[in-house]
Amino acid sequence: MPQDRRIAVIVGSLRKESYNLRIARILAELAPPHLKFEFVEIGGLPPYNEDLEQDPPAPWRAFRDTVRPADALLFVTPEYNRSMPGGLKNALDVGSRPYGKSVWEKKPGAVATASQGAIGGFGSNHHLRQSCVFLDVPMMQQPEAYLSSVQKAFAEDGSLTDESLKKLLKRFILAYADWVEKILRGPGEIASDQHPG
Ligand code: FNR
Repeated sequence: MPQDRRIAVIVGSLRKESYNLRIARILAELAPPHLKFEFVEIGGLPPYNEDLEQDPPAPWRAFRDTVRPADALLFVTPEYNRSMPGGLKNALDVGSRPYGKSVWEKKPGAVATASQGAIGGFGSNHHLRQSCVFLDVPMMQQPEAYLSSVQKAFAEDGSLTDESLKKLLKRFILAYADWVEKILRGPGEIASDQHPG
């Protein structure tokens, strides 16, 4: 069994009944037990303003202090106007500064996007990936997760009724667990595991 890993989960929707929040919770339930998920609040972060860095707002400090010790990142987000929601972009910006002290750097990441529309948040997914290139967050490539018409996957009581979506989420989170180990342990250690002695 791999050692415990702390996963910071960032959900791009702020609404209570968010489908993305539901998906994120299901991913956490389906994950191997050594992944310890912490859902990080982004709704209370003041908009990023460099002038405030001399005495950063308390919510910025708390956010940075929560993400910094995490081993890995999991983003689950809707698409707003073909991009990521502003609150999520703001969280990326807040975590990226002060310069040289980014809380994101080198943490393995993955993104799932869920939308009530037909294309599953593709634009949001890839705009987030674009920022993650600059932030030096190695993002899992496959499987991709663009979850379209997500509202149809749930019953009225909020339970997930779409078995094919459940299978996809399971495959996604197992691949993510592998990805986290691969990045955190590095190629040398994995190679020596495969060829003991
Ligand atoms: C949306 N929605 C949306 N959907 C989509 O597929 N592409 C888009 O560009 C947008 N744009 C958009 C902008 C804004 C401001 C809102 C509020 C919504 C619809 C979106 O998919 C739907 O509201 C989801 O249910 C939002 O995710 P949560 O809150 O359920 O997680």
